[in-house]
Formats: sequence, C-alpha cells, structure tokens
Amino acid sequence: MRHFLEVDDLDATEVAEVLKFASMKEFPKNLDGKGMALIFEKPSARTRNSMEMAVFQLGGHPIYIKPEEVGLDERESVEDVTKTLSCFHSMIGARVFKHSTVERMARENRVPIINLLSDEAHPLQALADVLTMQQELGDLEGRSITYIGDGNNVFRSLAIACGFLGMEVRFSGPPEYQLPYKDRDRLEFAGVSFEEYSSPEEAVKGVDAVYTDVWTSMGQEQEKTQRHKAFEGFQVNEKLMNHAGEKSIFLHCLPAHRGEEVTDEVVDGLASRVWIQAENRMHAARGLLAWLVEKNIEEGNKHE
Ligand code: CP
Ligand code: NVA
Repeated sequence: MRHFLEVDDLDATEVAEVLKFASMKEFPKNLDGKGMALIFEKPSARTRNSMEMAVFQLGGHPIYIKPEEVGLDERESVEDVTKTLSCFHSMIGARVFKHSTVERMARENRVPIINLLSDEAHPLQALADVLTMQQELGDLEGRSITYIGDGNNVFRSLAIACGFLGMEVRFSGPPEYQLPYKDRDRLEFAGVSFEEYSSPEEAVKGVDAVYTDVWTSMGQEQEKTQRHKAFEGFQVNEKLMNHAGEKSIFLHCLPAHRGEEVTDEVVDGLASRVWIQAENRMHAARGLLAWLVEKNIEEGNKHE
C-alpha cells in the first residue's frame, strides 16, 4: 500500500509524475463512488477546502471529521479509528499533532493515508509549492530557493521536494531552530543540495524564490514570546527582498502572521505568489490523489 506521509515516500520521478497529474485539465474520475475521510486535530482553511474540492473533482465524496468527533486516542485508539473509517472510505487524510499518529494509521495498511500536516511534515503543501515554482520559473533544475525562519514541518517537506526537482536549497534561521541533524542526513540521502547561512541577506542573494513560514506553529503557542525574540532579524521585508534581487518571487504557505515573519508590503507586493500557491493546493492535492489511486491499482493494492 502506498501512503503519503512525507514527500520522500515518493521518489523524484514519482513527484514529477504527480506534478503532471496536477496540471491535467481533464480530471480522471478515479474516486467515483468512493469516500475520503478527512480528520483534523488542528484548524485549517486551505487544506480542508482544497482536499474536499480535489476529492469532489475526482468523483469522490469527502467527509470532514472534527477533532472531538473521533477523538484520536481518547474516544478510540488511532488504530481502531483507522480500521473503522476504512470500512467506508477508500482513503484517509489526517492533520495531526504527532507525526507518529499518521505512521500508526499507515501501519494498519487498510487504505492509503495522506498526511495533511503533522509536527514533522507538510508534504501536500510542498507539492503545491513546487507546482507554483514550475509555473512561475519553468524547469526547476538548477534554480534556487532560500527559506528564512523556522526549520519546521513546512521547510522539511519543501526542502525534499525542491531537491528532488534539482533546486539548490538554502536556509537561514536562528541556530536553535535549524533543521535537526537527522533531517540533514535525510536531505543528503535524498540527494538534496542544501546549505545553511547565518546571514539572511547572504542567503537570499540572487535566489529565484524566497520562502518563509510562521515563527510559531500550531501547537507551539506557549513558546510564542521566546520564539519572537529568537527570530528577530529573520523577518522577510522589502529590505531583505531587495537583497534577493528583482526577479526573485516570494512564497508563503499561509496563514501569514503579518508583521512577524513577513510584512504586508511583501505579502501584497509584486514579488508575491502566495495566492497562486494557495490555489495550487487544490491542483496538487487532486494530482496526488489521482496518481496514488492509479499507483495502488498498478501495484495490486486496490481497496474496494
Ligand atoms: N497552508 C495550509 O496548510 O493552510 P491551512 O492551515 O489553512 O490548511
Ligand atoms: N508551520 C505551520 C504551517 C501551517 C500551515 C504550522 O504547523 O502551524
């Protein structure tokens, strides 16, 4: 059974195939008559809406499940919820606090599990991000991206996706918020060209894209004050974008905490592609789901 918990559950060729599926104008109806359960332990605007529309466009029926409804590991164990939902649905998507929750779901091996964001990864976001850059920059081989800020779930998935497509990945953030060593090994294993910079100005010089995400992710609210202090100097503002150069585009997964990691001028400025990125969440999700259904059938994992 093929799942999608992180970008490198696919190889580089498969990511390229998914992006082709995402760009198809005719949608295969390969979820016709099927359901997809969408469990959310955290809030969402883009992920929920893009997933529901993607499932609908493939002929399927999405069912949104509020955190308190199934109560993962509270009302019922993660394993039992997975088994139950697999009786009705041919796929399960989950936005969770702990990455281990989606791993436990996948271990049940009943239906494909799609990670809709965990503390470690946000792979659907990364697919939308590279799709956006392909549309804006063309072939991504040899292009460059700098991520400024927190070495978090969004960055981890983004770095793998960009590296798979041949991009040079740069990072600049406070030392204590850099990517852990195990992830650097993972990037190296995935063949990603990755470099860290202490100076954000140096890091963005001449890059094709500048990316940032919030300093305080969902679930880290109690660390807000300490994080604000640590991330001082890592805001993406006009001055920093000027260091990047006039051809550089700006990306953000959203929601943005305007005035913290990014200023209004940048989010609403000429370089910004954040709304194209948001729309691409739906195209990327549809591409991934359609590809995954075909792949599982091809490999004999079809779930009825
Ligand atoms: N980018 C993203 O995942 O947005 P939501 O949290 O609104 O789904
Ligand atoms: N890093 C953020 C991304 C939100 C889409 C979070 O996990 O809250």
